[in-house]
Amino acid sequence: MPNNTNMYYPDELVEEVLAANDIVDVVSSYVQLKRSGANYFGLCPFHNEKSPSFSVSKSKQIFHCFGCGTGGNVLTFLMKYENQTFQEALRQLSDRAGIALPEINYSAEAKKREEKKQQLFAVNKEAATYYYHLLRSDKGRTGLSYLQKRGLTDDMMKQFGLGYASGSSNDLIRHLKEKGFSDDLLIEAGLASFDEKQGLHDKFWNRVMFPIQDVSNRVIGFGGRVMGDAKPKYLNSPETPIFDKSRNLYGLNIAKRSRKNHFLLCEGYMDVIAMHMAGFTEAVASLGTSFTEGQASLLKRYVSGVILAYDSDQAGVTAALRNLEILRKAGVACKILDMTPYKDPDEFLQAEGKEAFEERIRQAENAFLFKIRMKEKEFNMEDPEERTAFYREMARNLCSFTDAVERENYAKALSSRYYIKEEQLLSMVASYDRAGGENIPARPVRQGTIRKQVQEEKWKRSVRHSEGLLLTALSVKPDWFARIEPFLSADDFEEGLPKEVAEAFLKALKEHTYEEEKFLSSLISMFDTAEEQEAVSALFQTEFENPQAEEEQQKKAFLDVACAVKRFSVERITEKAKEDPNLLLKLVEEKKALDTLSRLR
Ligand code: CTP
Ligand code: MN
Repeated sequence: MPNNTNMYYPDELVEEVLAANDIVDVVSSYVQLKRSGANYFGLCPFHNEKSPSFSVSKSKQIFHCFGCGTGGNVLTFLMKYENQTFQEALRQLSDRAGIALPEINYSAEAKKREEKKQQLFAVNKEAATYYYHLLRSDKGRTGLSYLQKRGLTDDMMKQFGLGYASGSSNDLIRHLKEKGFSDDLLIEAGLASFDEKQGLHDKFWNRVMFPIQDVSNRVIGFGGRVMGDAKPKYLNSPETPIFDKSRNLYGLNIAKRSRKNHFLLCEGYMDVIAMHMAGFTEAVASLGTSFTEGQASLLKRYVSGVILAYDSDQAGVTAALRNLEILRKAGVACKILDMTPYKDPDEFLQAEGKEAFEERIRQAENAFLFKIRMKEKEFNMEDPEERTAFYREMARNLCSFTDAVERENYAKALSSRYYIKEEQLLSMVASYDRAGGENIPARPVRQGTIRKQVQEEKWKRSVRHSEGLLLTALSVKPDWFARIEPFLSADDFEEGLPKEVAEAFLKALKEHTYEEEKFLSSLISMFDTAEEQEAVSALFQTEFENPQAEEEQQKKAFLDVACAVKRFSVERITEKAKEDPNLLLKLVEEKKALDTLSRLR
């Protein structure tokens, strides 16, 4: 979504702040930059590298890393580097330039949203207090003895604010209504549900309650666990305006004070508490949902590395494999703990104690070697063909290291582990690199469903790529827009961010307000999360220009790309028209436009 900067600050003010903060100056105070030609280069702060592929353009006021693909304007840089919000980054830059920002002038709508959040915080706090006292009352005896049986001390229960929901006679609802909270709010907070049969009733029944707190110790939701084997084992609050499961971590409010340079990341609430109890106060967990990029960037504000303490079963291994990629992309170093023969950190600590756990931390496995070791299990190493396929898989994975020294070090480690000559492995890596690196599968995909997924992925990528090419070409040659204008509009772009970008860009071209130097940096500030800003920047970084080519050839390539974008659009409409016959007429027209456009070439 484009941001609502307008709601807070007028565009002109954002422009003024951007103009007063040269990106090269700002970035230079974080990254050592060297001038080379028109651009400045340095080591990318967003991924690990030893030769500089991070570039900053003074003329366009944007940055781009050729290694990890991240990019944006000076605001994006701060948002990513300092983990700031749009508003925070803007404030830092305005302070830096001595520009006074007016106090935020909330619109009526924003004010209402803010009030709703405050109400949700209040009702959650009251509910947490209620559950907390109930656990320590007569009614909470079953809950308390359950937690005691699981080895939790009173101190720990207190520190994590654990509570108990009896649910009998809707006692939470009654309590909260006495305090003046409305039915609607209780439902929105996920503390109560409504149905025809029961009317308004407590959502959590007969469960021990784990309040989930944000970094500032505010209760944003709950996880409730049954005390036996009933299903579901945990019931969690739904997402609400204050409970974003992809941007919070259980235990972070305490772990952030642990003064370690790593966090222990695990799967369960009980695991977090067990680790804290054993003195590992750097433990955090995701919130009953898969780990996300948002959580990775949240972690990164506090630590440079993460040790995964996931369950030792297949589900845990799968999650670890998935999440180490997310962490790698976020530039967070990652190691993996082996919990076998126990299921999870909680069981490990109960059985072996904290010294043994500490030893496991010391032995934590390098993420890449872990990944390869898990891969190996998919191959029958007795069979020469399978063995070769496994070696190819290793080579393919080694392509992810762009740094030669790093690549060789890993090749060395793998060669001694898996009995293959280092030179052989490296030459396989080189041939993979030429063929397209990591993306080429090591053995043909057999299953139809996977193939379909891969194809869809590929399709999406080629759509993005063509749209990026077209936008990039137009940003360099805005005059060419006139040729395609009758046949192509922002509606031909992929729904969501690409379309929004195309809308703003094509409008500027139409109204001749486009200025190459300033445009991209301003366009980027229309979006308020670093992820979106990066995606916008990426759309314009697609390699297109071939300065050697004749103008005519370039023009032809440009029209080819325009046709590709139009064709993808027609394909999309074709799909939609299968469901919605009203689109058939539009489809005919769009096909005609595509025809005429292709004849221009
Ligand atoms: N979880 C959930 N809903 C479920 C099961 C699990 O939301 N039905 C989430 C909870 O956040 C839980 C985590 O996944 O903490 C890990 O699940 P699991 O390993 O099954 O539970 P433990 O945390 O180990 O809890 P316990 O030791 O009490 O069984
Ligand atoms: Mn457990």
